Amino acid sequence: MHETAGMANTSRTFSDVRNVILSAHKNTGAQEKVGFYDTWAENYEQDVALLDYRAPLLAAECVSSFFTGDREKATVLDVACGTGLVSAHLKKMGFHHFVGVDGCLAMLELAKKTGLYQQLKQCLLGHDEISVEAETYDIVIIVGALSIGQVPLTVIRELWDATKPGGYVCMTTRGNADNREYKAELEKMIKALEEEQKWRRVTVVEVEEWERAISEQDSGYISGAIYLYQKSF
Ligand SMILES: C[S@@+](CC[C@H](N)C(=O)[O-])C[C@H]1O[C@@H](n2cnc3c(N)ncnc32)[C@H](O)[C@@H]1O
Repeated sequence: MHETAGMANTSRTFSDVRNVILSAHKNTGAQEKVGFYDTWAENYEQDVALLDYRAPLLAAECVSSFFTGDREKATVLDVACGTGLVSAHLKKMGFHHFVGVDGCLAMLELAKKTGLYQQLKQCLLGHDEISVEAETYDIVIIVGALSIGQVPLTVIRELWDATKPGGYVCMTTRGNADNREYKAELEKMIKALEEEQKWRRVTVVEVEEWERAISEQDSGYISGAIYLYQKSF
């Protein structure tokens, strides 16, 4: 995990993390959710480490294992980039060109400090269009943000739009009880694009131990899934 601002509280416990996350009501709108991240940004990286949040690594490994192009030249759009965990992993795997998008200014400030991104843009996904050129990116990746109360599913076509023909779109979601309906809707939308022959499935990986559970309904670890699709030429 890369270093952040250095201002974070270093003695956080799993119970602190649980309380912070449970304080963010899942049914709030996107604007409120982004506001929640504004207050969480400073402790985000150490808190998700306590959660054993492996999604950025697992998604990066998934992309890396299927990408056959030139990594030095490949352009990556990291959507809902947060503090930059996904791009940090991809960088270690040989990728170099990153553009980040997120709705939360405090997360973007931390992402900027990593020095990973050539460009960072603030965008409330699902409300504002992602202002990037169409058919530009070799990889478009969104990790940890496609779930209930976060990024609306309308963004999926925008992810597809931003991807070069032959490029890859990598998406993740959670499999816990609260998110089951959203996950089913996401899969329906992914399938619809497949039926329209807009992309083809490369792999779908269901992961049992995605991150530690925090709600009373779930125990141990919650599951998650990675969807990797290749845009049609
Ligand atoms: C769990 S974090 C994931 C960050 C990063 N991808 C990672 O895996 O560490 C979710 C991110 O999505 C952003 N986010 C949530 N809803 C959003 C929305 N509607 N528009 C833009 N960003 C949003 C938050 O600001 C936050 O940075």
